[in-house]
Amino acid sequence: MGQDKKRILSGMRPTGRLHLGNYVGALENWIQLQNTYHSFHMVADWHMLTTAPEATREIRDNCIEVVIDWLSAGLDPHKSPLFVQSHVREHAELYLILSMLITVARLQRNPTVKEQARDLGLESNMSFGHLGYPVLQAADILLYKADAVPVGEDQAPHVEITREMAKRFNFVYNREVFPEPETILTRFARLPGLDGKKMSKSLSNSIFLSDTAETIQKKVMQAYTDPTRIRKTDPGHPEGCVVFAYHQKFEPGTVKQVECDCIEGKLGCVEHKRQMAKKLAEVLAPIQERRVYYESHRSEVQDIIADGDKQARDVASKTMSEVRQAMDLE
Ligand code: TRP
Repeated sequence: MGQDKKRILSGMRPTGRLHLGNYVGALENWIQLQNTYHSFHMVADWHMLTTAPEATREIRDNCIEVVIDWLSAGLDPHKSPLFVQSHVREHAELYLILSMLITVARLQRNPTVKEQARDLGLESNMSFGHLGYPVLQAADILLYKADAVPVGEDQAPHVEITREMAKRFNFVYNREVFPEPETILTRFARLPGLDGKKMSKSLSNSIFLSDTAETIQKKVMQAYTDPTRIRKTDPGHPEGCVVFAYHQKFEPGTVKQVECDCIEGKLGCVEHKRQMAKKLAEVLAPIQERRVYYESHRSEVQDIIADGDKQARDVASKTMSEVRQAMDLE
């Protein structure tokens, strides 16, 4: 399958049901890419342990929720395997080996981990595993000899580390085992949440892929728009308006018109919100239809994962065999 195609490894942490931000920032891109690349899609469950090592039950349950969302959104397991990181133990083996080839100082300079530590108040007591999670990520990517990795901006430093690790390994063991993967940056990376901040489950500002039309309507009605606009006839300011941002993404054809109508006070926020809620419900309807199917066919989902695990393991075990040979360990 897809031998002649370039290879992609995509990963996502199983944080639970996915929201529109995950869809726009990652999933939608993956669905496109699976047509041109041989794509592997990985649920990064071990990565969840970096910030919540005790929440294993939740992590396990969330793995299946994430895969159901992936399938419902349109990832096709016949084109591209879906698998769970912890089901392929080779990730841990390569992670250990790579961890010897990078300095602590290099990891401490990583802006994404720094920011995370600051947000979580972990700066002075970060775990060894948390500091090293980009190395685990490098192992995820290199095990599949990925040519490219689709990520948002925050994850780009980790693909950079992955490239460095590939070069370092090839140099130290004097063999071209790993290609250096490219970054495929997501175009529409940041969809704002209902409050205008980044959409994030922990900020309670999300529209979930599984939200009903009524829930979407209720949520969008509370979305942040233009605080200076009291009456409909007041001139509006589309920049910074959440509903306008959604409009740009989901109804690009009428952006200019809506922008004018808003600025000229012809289109009121309430009316615009009503239209947008309807549009979002339409966009999500086919995804939700498929979700209903998969929710009632969970064993089929388990089979899809088992099949993906097997395909991933086949590739990973070959790579590890090459790694051990290059290191003279086999
Ligand atoms: N670290 C990524 C995140 O937090 C998830 C991830 C783990 C990943 N392994 C990966 C992403 C490999 C791309 C490739 O979002």
